[in-house]
Amino acid sequence: MPAPPRNAPPSMDLQMVDLRAQVAALRPEIDAAIAAVLDRGAFVRGPFVAAFEAELAAYVAGLAEGGAVHALGVGNGTDALQVALMALGVGPGDEVVCPAFTFVATAEAAALLGARPVFADIDPETFNLDPERVADAVTERTKAVVPVHLFGQMADLAAIRDAAGDVPIVEDAAQALGATRDGQAAGTAGAVGTLSFYPSKNLGAFGDGGAVLTTDADLAARVRAIANHGAERKYHHTRVGVNSRLDALQAAILSVQLRHLPAFTDARRAAAALYDAHLDGLDEVVRPARAAGACHVFHQYTVRVPAALRNGLRAHLAARGVPTMVYYPEPLHRMAPYAGGAADLPETDRACAEVLSLPMHPHLTASQVASVAEAVAAFVRTA
Ligand SMILES: Cc1ncc(COP(=O)(O)O)c(C=O)c1O
Repeated sequence: MPAPPRNAPPSMDLQMVDLRAQVAALRPEIDAAIAAVLDRGAFVRGPFVAAFEAELAAYVAGLAEGGAVHALGVGNGTDALQVALMALGVGPGDEVVCPAFTFVATAEAAALLGARPVFADIDPETFNLDPERVADAVTERTKAVVPVHLFGQMADLAAIRDAAGDVPIVEDAAQALGATRDGQAAGTAGAVGTLSFYPSKNLGAFGDGGAVLTTDADLAARVRAIANHGAERKYHHTRVGVNSRLDALQAAILSVQLRHLPAFTDARRAAAALYDAHLDGLDEVVRPARAAGACHVFHQYTVRVPAALRNGLRAHLAARGVPTMVYYPEPLHRMAPYAGGAADLPETDRACAEVLSLPMHPHLTASQVASVAEAVAAFVRTA
């Protein structure tokens, strides 16, 4: 972790995600990457996108045991999910099993294709899909199961694969690039995986971006065609597709960011370990669980506090210059467009009422982490 600036007030410029610090850390490399794209004059697809796709594929393959990985750039993480589901043939009348404790895109992609999101409850410790609930939710109409590796920790893919039987798994790895579990890398442990490069993600573009990962060459070819208007070659459209492309400026920026991702991930993990140490012993604050065999990349550092304390704690922290976020305040099954997707999800409801995400990014200083934890402790000790 970077050393705290001398004499700086501990919570100086404390942010949930510090994108200005991120830009400042990489500025000369980013400027050079942007200049290279401008000099080349290739803005959509082309060599910068191909280079980034190859680098991303190599990075992910290097995290895990197993064969070659195909990485295909698309317009954003939501498109990545939609294109992946299209490549698996998901359509009207199908069911897609997913969590309701996630960002809406997970279910939205299925709904956009006319499929019905069917929600399964989560494991209260990790916030990820509970494999037993997945088994309950799968029917003969289920065309895909979409676990989300929430907050940067992989779901139990081995158990979810068992629960899903022959149904393909689409991993929503938007928050978990770099995470591993039991020798497998996020995004490559199912049939297909999806990434978002929204600026605040662990690997962020300076705009929108996303990717689809798969170890299946045929599926990769289908995804590539679908994301390019269903064209296998120029002006030869063999299926209905979409226009979802990663642009060259974003790809060049992402190539720079990817080179630093391992160091940034280490910094996130160090900040998380420090939070853990400082929050240790506070009974009201449940720290993030680490699943056995999992390497968590801490997209978020999310604690649980009793629901009755959460708003007071947020206000107390805000008054001390500490921003927080609630990811996610309302579960998808309670939102009008998705209300038909589940019966009873008690752990999802409880998580929505209790979670609180503290500032987390690679440029947090040790003293900032300490000051956040001290402010949390001061509140819960007197609450
Ligand atoms: C879990 C999850 N799935 C999907 C997405 C969608 O990604 P994007 O915003 O790039 O469309 C996001 C991010 O916002 C996400 O957090």
